[in-house]
Amino acid sequence: MNLTKSATLAAAIFCIVLSQVSGQTKDETTTTETPKEKIKVIDSKLCKKCNCYIDTNLLDCSEKLQDWLSAEDWEDLTNGNVVFKTINLEHNNLTSVPILPKYDVENLYLANNQIDSISVGAFQNLTELVTLDLSHNRLTSKVLVPDVFKGPFTVQDFESLENLKTLNLGYNDLHSLDADLFEHIPHIEELVLCSNSFHVIDQLSETAISGLQSLKILDVSYMEIDDLPDTILHGPRDLEIFIAAGNLFNQLPKALKYATNLTSLVLNENPIENLIGDNVFPPLTKLTHLSMTFMSKLYKIGPGAFSELQSLTELILSDNKLLNEIDEEALSKNVTGGQYLDYPPLEKVYLNNCNVSTLPKELLVRWDKLKALDLRFNPWNCDESNDFLINVLIDRINKTTPVLAKDVKCGGPNKLNDVTLLRVANEHMIESSTGSLIWVGLLVVLLIAVPTIIGAYVMKRRGCFGVFRRHDSGASSALYNRTSFNEDFHI
Ligand SMILES: *[C@@H]1O[C@H](CO)[C@@H](O)[C@H](O)[C@H]1NC(C)=O
Ligand SMILES: *[C@@H]1O[C@H](CO)[C@@H](O)[C@H](O)[C@H]1NC(C)=O
Ligand SMILES: *[C@@H]1O[C@H](CO)[C@@H](O)[C@H](O)[C@H]1NC(C)=O
Ligand SMILES: *[C@@H]1O[C@H](CO)[C@@H](O)[C@H](O)[C@H]1NC(C)=O
Ligand SMILES: *[C@@H]1O[C@H](CO)[C@@H](O)[C@H](O)[C@H]1NC(C)=O
Ligand SMILES: *[C@@H]1O[C@H](CO)[C@@H](O)[C@H](O)[C@H]1NC(C)=O
Repeated sequence: MNLTKSATLAAAIFCIVLSQVSGQTKDETTTTETPKEKIKVIDSKLCKKCNCYIDTNLLDCSEKLQDWLSAEDWEDLTNGNVVFKTINLEHNNLTSVPILPKYDVENLYLANNQIDSISVGAFQNLTELVTLDLSHNRLTSKVLVPDVFKGPFTVQDFESLENLKTLNLGYNDLHSLDADLFEHIPHIEELVLCSNSFHVIDQLSETAISGLQSLKILDVSYMEIDDLPDTILHGPRDLEIFIAAGNLFNQLPKALKYATNLTSLVLNENPIENLIGDNVFPPLTKLTHLSMTFMSKLYKIGPGAFSELQSLTELILSDNKLLNEIDEEALSKNVTGGQYLDYPPLEKVYLNNCNVSTLPKELLVRWDKLKALDLRFNPWNCDESNDFLINVLIDRINKTTPVLAKDVKCGGPNKLNDVTLLRVANEHMIESSTGSLIWVGLLVVLLIAVPTIIGAYVMKRRGCFGVFRRHDSGASSALYNRTSFNEDFHI
């Protein structure tokens, strides 16, 4: 017993000692083989050419190179004492991307070059790559094959570039995507395709995009497309931000109905004419931010247009030059079938630089929840159709955001053209107390003096001046009746 025990013990000790010794010799040989001390990157040639920011791990070679980093530069980098997490090689007239050496860069910016070819597996050694910006180059659909994004080669197969999350392909010469383009980069969360003239998103491109299960942000702006394939957003279930500005949509894309997790939607600069009938937003229950600006043809926002967007907090409708009509039921939703309507919890509404003349009070309920309401540069009707705006809202806007109250002006009736609503509201108030201002004077001339003179001439002997005065106040309260609104809205 004892003997075997001690024998095994001895054997074990022997083994341990042996392994230690062999390990030591191994260590010694490796250290003697590579006596490399880390290169002090900041003193390297590369950091003379480019700007090296050690504290932020940024290597900025923008506009600094004629060609790719030399072998020597890469040597300095890979053996350096610092790993640059971000490398900027923009504006360098690069025309191709070779297979890059192993380096733990996370953000690689290659925008604004003249890249028209990329080697197969160009990024395979950059296994930590998270962001790749290839925008503003000359990439064509022919060049951009799936194997360009091949990952590191292992014994069996090419692995994917697991970490790549952001890919910017904007401003190139693409007009279609290979159906398998993203097979090696399946975890893309942000894809930018803007300003490539696709004209139409064909079956292959749709397959490529709808296969991106992790996609959160998709930018398909300025692609000269007039619609989206209906099911393109069915695959990317987590899509949160969708930007499709500057296209040729004349209707809301039906595809939006599958974007159920969307929180932000940008549809600026599309020739949509109206949001009425079937052409209203589908239920997007998480959408908080909607932007539809510079829509050169949009003239009407009808009932129910935004009713299914019951989480909306920011609505941007500025610079829609033809926009003239916003239905009072554009935002409300009859959920319960009862007496009360539901409204989105809006905090910011931008309606500046449109052609809106009336703002229906019923459009919203909690006007008081608005932190920003931009109504500037519209031809507001300064008559009883805008009682609420003139007698309640404009004053509140001046209190919360004075800068947004300044240029809210009347576009009619004629005598009030270009007068600020604030003034219209205020002078009415002043008129009821003293009536000493010039504006009131003008009103008096218009509303009292003329009929008074005539009346005085006709009814001089009956002493009716008092009657005319009362008529005057009656006439102006018809224009903008402050008291009745204060009662109605408990302000
Ligand atoms: C790229 O080419 C343009 C035009 O030939 C030249 O003006 C510019 O200096 C070049 N940029 C670099 C970084 O060499
Ligand atoms: C980069 O990848 C290529 C192809 O797999 C390989 O031959 C090369 O050795 C790698 N370079 C470095 C520095 O790892
Ligand atoms: C929305 O996103 C959540 C979380 O990412 C996911 O579980 C869910 O399936 C998505 N909803 C829909 C309707 O796709
Ligand atoms: C603005 O709306 C008015 C009607 O309120 C209309 O007469 C006018 O033509 C519109 N202006 C533009 C530029 O569409
Ligand atoms: C909501 O709809 C129901 C049934 O269609 C209707 O009776 C009710 O008046 C509506 N509520 C409002 C506030 O319009
Ligand atoms: C607008 O509000 C400012 C204070 O923020 C006040 O001084 C000013 O008199 C107001 N203007 C009008 C016209 O009511």
